[in-house]
Amino acid sequence: MGLTLKNPIVPSSSPVSYTLDRIKMVEDAGAGALVMYSLFEEQIVQESRQLDHHLSYFTEAFAEALDWFPDMGAYNIGPEEYLVLIQEAKEQTDLPIIGSLNGLTNTGWTTYAKLIEEAGADALELNIYYIPTQTDVSGAEVEQMYIDLVTEINATIDIPLAVKMTPFFSAPVHMAGRLVEAGADALVLFNRFYQPDLNVTDLRVEPNLVLSSADELLLPLRWTAIMYGRVPTDFAITTGVQTHVEVLKSMMAGAKVAMMASELLRRGVGRITQVLENLTFWMEENEYESITQMQGSLSQQHAANPDRFERANYRKTLASWRDDPAGQGLAFK
Ligand SMILES: Cc1cc2nc3c(=O)[nH]c(=O)nc-3n(C[C@H](O)[C@H](O)[C@H](O)COP(=O)(O)O)c2cc1C
Repeated sequence: MGLTLKNPIVPSSSPVSYTLDRIKMVEDAGAGALVMYSLFEEQIVQESRQLDHHLSYFTEAFAEALDWFPDMGAYNIGPEEYLVLIQEAKEQTDLPIIGSLNGLTNTGWTTYAKLIEEAGADALELNIYYIPTQTDVSGAEVEQMYIDLVTEINATIDIPLAVKMTPFFSAPVHMAGRLVEAGADALVLFNRFYQPDLNVTDLRVEPNLVLSSADELLLPLRWTAIMYGRVPTDFAITTGVQTHVEVLKSMMAGAKVAMMASELLRRGVGRITQVLENLTFWMEENEYESITQMQGSLSQQHAANPDRFERANYRKTLASWRDDPAGQGLAFK
């Protein structure tokens, strides 16, 4: 992506970057870089509609109508404050700062990509969070929406662009290649979809923000290992990175960066320092001189036919089941 980081541990987009104080703590903890929490398309559009509204009526008499727009609540501050925070973070820390835009359509809000660049961000991460629910929109059309948005934003900025992609494409490797062709300088695997639960007593849909666990690493780990060497770009892994072991696995699969959110929200940003210490200790014990040395060492780069390899592994995994491995007669009772 063109950024030189002192180490591969990067807090991903989350409340860890809400305030300047927190950003300074991230720097003190030793992170390689920081991805800011996202500025959302809806926020930008809402702000500009409010402005239009005030300009055209010179009154706030109709302000109640604005309640219709989804309330971002306390999640984060407005677009202008976001830019100021990036500017302050750049002035008051030495951290590489990656701005984050979260949206879907390529309408006016994408100008914020340039504003984030002008505020001093070293790079931009684009998170396209979209759940296609219409029966008449095809997979090909959804993919094209992604490509159009990446093309548009890439044309707007001069700083590097990372795309945080979803794993839910029919052909993720092909799609990753298209995103890179459209202008992504790096791919972040993967966007984590929040899955609301149903409350059967109150008959309600319940938003459900569960922090991740380390076994969720396996999905981005596998796809990074598959894409490394096949899609010409840099990879960052997000989801399930909690200790130096997940960082090592991410690097060996082929990522250049291992991102952390849940673990930092759970245990504080001081966790970065511990993970770095354990990582360094492990590398010394195992005689690694650099992170570069291990990058991609467990990728599928050299598998002649990864489809076959995946299929063989699938069969091997199913066949590894033993009815009663501990000999305690527990199975099938
Ligand atoms: C409270 C919270 C807020 C988040 N906000 C954003 C966001 O604004 N933009 C974004 O791209 N990802 C956001 N994420 C997703 C994280 O950046 C990350 O990709 C995801 O949590 C998986 O990583 P983890 O397993 O280390 O938590 C958020 C996650 C959490 C838990």
